[in-house]
Amino acid sequence: MLPSVQETVASEALDRIRAIVGPRGWISDAQDMAPYLVEERGLYRGRARMVVRPGSTQEVAEVVRVCAEAGLGLVPQSGNTGLVGGGIPHDHGEEIVLSLGRMNRVRAVDPLNYTITVEAGCVLAAVQKAAADADRLFPLSLGAEGTCQIGGNLSTNAGGIAVLRYGMARDLVLGLEVVLADGRVWNGLRGLRKDNTGYDLKQLFLGAEGTLGIITAAVLKLFPRPGAVETGFVAVRNPAAAIELLARARAGTGDAITAFELISRTALDMVLRHIPGTSDPLATRSPWYVLIEASSGAAGSALRSALEQVLADGAEAGLVLDGTLAASGEQAKGLWRLRETITEAQKPEGGSIKHDVSVPVSKVPEFIARASASCEAALPGIRIVAFGHAGDGNIHFNISQPVGADRAGYLARWEEFNRIVHDIVAELGGSISAEHGIGRLKREELVHYKAPLEIELMRALKRTLDPKGILNPGKVVG
Ligand code: FAD
Ligand code: MLT
Ligand code: ZN
Repeated sequence: MLPSVQETVASEALDRIRAIVGPRGWISDAQDMAPYLVEERGLYRGRARMVVRPGSTQEVAEVVRVCAEAGLGLVPQSGNTGLVGGGIPHDHGEEIVLSLGRMNRVRAVDPLNYTITVEAGCVLAAVQKAAADADRLFPLSLGAEGTCQIGGNLSTNAGGIAVLRYGMARDLVLGLEVVLADGRVWNGLRGLRKDNTGYDLKQLFLGAEGTLGIITAAVLKLFPRPGAVETGFVAVRNPAAAIELLARARAGTGDAITAFELISRTALDMVLRHIPGTSDPLATRSPWYVLIEASSGAAGSALRSALEQVLADGAEAGLVLDGTLAASGEQAKGLWRLRETITEAQKPEGGSIKHDVSVPVSKVPEFIARASASCEAALPGIRIVAFGHAGDGNIHFNISQPVGADRAGYLARWEEFNRIVHDIVAELGGSISAEHGIGRLKREELVHYKAPLEIELMRALKRTLDPKGILNPGKVVG
């Protein structure tokens, strides 16, 4: 049988793409493509015509132009650590994965302007290191930082552990370079802190999950490196005590709190069970803990004394049950490991239904209490693994299957638990996706909870910037 016209067009487009990127720039062998076609949790698996790995913005632009002409869907991918299926192609196999990993140059560091200009494929940890080498801080920090790349971080508007002090990824961007859906390149690589010349176009692409354009480079904000950093692990009476402690800690340290992470005992127990080399840092067993980090520009002991005072006052007020402050950088790393390995430690415990939600900080205790009670009533024996960036009102409300339950049967109830948890979030004025984005996982939830006018505006933007619908089709509102 003769190939259809559509297949002939696609096959000619693939030939043109191979010629654009050269032999190092594409993969079509099934085994070599495999890592690009599955998300780390295994929830999303796809197929693709090819994985393209361009080496420059020009090559990205030419590839996009060919895809626009041939009507081929493109799925941008950076470190592939996203948790909502955004970077994985659909299983019909007709899309192309566009991996930015080869574009990993630091283009410029300007210490006096406190900026760094990097390509989209730079691994986050490498950006942090390049900043540190220039005696500056790039504060974005998350558990996947050794693998995720800046293009992915900006496209998901990543959060992480330092949002309380430095903001989300979108707050750390001064300029962008973006390849548009027709292959034109928008050079918005400006390092300006003040630029009031109309609409802030870069904001459209930040958090757009690759549906409006392909980010190829960015100018990022840098900060002074802190002179003192103090890290504590504190047992608290309950989430309400944690939130009260946060308010006191902000006031008592001159607003020097950089991270405030809530950890339930259930989460800690999973870490202690499954992550080698971890141990409980406190003698007192409590249902809730916080990992607290404060930093200040000045070196010296003032910050530590202030934090000690906050904890002592907290103990007197009955909020704090026990606590320890790290005596060295190594000890601090050990405490952070207890927090950052929670996701990994959940895996051997079976299926986990995840909710990445936010509510006003003051409502965190009410959210946890109501959502826990409702989920436990719906399925006795489920294990609530609530943890996360409580200082930002962002809780990872993950629920692990009952011990011994059937994983697939449990995960089939995902939508039912979504409704339970997200209804409570909505009642509290919160968001159903605090930091991981929408991707494929939360498309229906987005439409369910966002006002119709907001969805209409989002779709209008999508149609304007990507009229042929070739950029990350079927993701977010596409
Ligand atoms: P990918 O997964 O490759 O892509 C993510 C999305 O962006 C996809 O929709 C993709 O199509 C799009 N995209 C990628 N690159 C581009 C580009 N150049 N242009 C346009 N679109 C693009 N997230 C948090 O926010 N906070 C956390 O604390 C956090 N902790 C995590 C801990 C672990 C252990 C893991 C595995 C993940 C965690 N995540 C967290 C989720 C994930 O790391 C972030 O979403 C991260 O920003 C994704 O970056 P990536 O490079 O892996 O992007
Ligand atoms: C984290 O903060 O550890 C991640 O964003 C949460 C997750 O993996 O669910
Ligand atoms: Zn998180």
